[in-house]
Amino acid sequence: MAAATARLVRLRSMTARLCAPKVGSMFQQAVGSYFRCREAADLARLLSEAKNLGAKTGSKAMLSKPNDKRQRRTRMTQHYNTILITGAAGRLGSRLRVGLAPLARRIRLSDRVDIANLQANEEAAVCELTDFPAVQTAAAGVDAIVHFGGAPLESPWDEIVSSNIQGSYNIYEAARKQGVRRVVYASSVHAIGYHPLEAHIDAEAPHRPDSLYGLSKCFVEDLGRLYWDKFGIESVFLRIFSSFPEPADRRMLWSWLSFDDCVRLVTASLVAPRVGHTIVFGMSNNMIKPVDNSLAGHIGFYPKDSAEAFRAAVEAKTSPPDPKAPATSLLGGWFIDLGHPDDEKTA
Ligand SMILES: NC(=O)c1ccc[n+]([C@@H]2O[C@H](COP(=O)([O-])OP(=O)(O)OC[C@H]3O[C@@H](n4cnc5c(N)ncnc54)[C@H](O)[C@@H]3O)[C@@H](O)[C@H]2O)c1
Repeated sequence: MAAATARLVRLRSMTARLCAPKVGSMFQQAVGSYFRCREAADLARLLSEAKNLGAKTGSKAMLSKPNDKRQRRTRMTQHYNTILITGAAGRLGSRLRVGLAPLARRIRLSDRVDIANLQANEEAAVCELTDFPAVQTAAAGVDAIVHFGGAPLESPWDEIVSSNIQGSYNIYEAARKQGVRRVVYASSVHAIGYHPLEAHIDAEAPHRPDSLYGLSKCFVEDLGRLYWDKFGIESVFLRIFSSFPEPADRRMLWSWLSFDDCVRLVTASLVAPRVGHTIVFGMSNNMIKPVDNSLAGHIGFYPKDSAEAFRAAVEAKTSPPDPKAPATSLLGGWFIDLGHPDDEKTA
């Protein structure tokens, strides 16, 4: 009885501190604490006590959705010394370069093209992803890698193999050799493009790539699984749907991921306490949601934007699509209609 009381006091003290600056880690400790209790009855009682204390201390928002200013500040503290961003000169990379700056003392920017306007907190590591010694140098002394470099669309097989497959292998090998503990990778809807919208799949649905590009994303998701299972390198795979300044067509009324939500998604993936091997669908808080993101709840990604604001304008300038057309009924959209890229190259 005395031991149970002592545990209760410890838990009460931990839970009462949920409003303190280190909210996330304190909650983790509290959860860890009651999972260490041996008696089931004590566990149930302590859990209920924790919930009550959470309500009394006003920590309910932290337990569900990080939507108050104090929590946002907490999540934006410097979690890392150095983060490496690949594809840093690209459309999304150049957004992440700014958006992730508060998370690390230093951001190292890598791309095959020059990095413009280096800031005081930034350093450049210009290289081809296929150049393993250079990738190793880029990853030296890094705590986390945000891997957005590579071919962003369907491309000839040679380019897919070199930039996406060999390049990503080099990133994981460099992470292993340099002791990097976490990788956040820009995967894609095109890894699962042949699933129908109505299937409402979650992250456990099998790969169904719709292109060589999608196939390369499947490869990297499995590569990351191997490196987690065997070498303990954590990864978050962001199956980004359509990240553009605003929705450009009717499909994007459900598939759109705003640039700000993209930064939120990568931030959540970097600061979540434990991610293992996680797959998360990357789309904004659109009204229509054809996939189920519940298996990534532990990442704590809460998109704030929605395509609805653009619906009227998009519908006014586009015709309703044929609901039976594969490009409409399957997640991959117009990628479904693409032929083999090497055929098109020689035609
Ligand atoms: N934008 C989207 O809607 C979307 C959707 C799904 C996935 N993604 C993924 O997000 C990532 C970034 O996409 P983006 O839209 O910013 O594309 P982007 O083309 O603007 O950026 C990619 C960057 O990678 C660099 N790069 C390409 N091959 C390289 C190589 N071999 N070595 C070094 N650098 C190389 C390019 O120079 C470029 O700056 C890509 O991996 C893409 O597949 C994007």
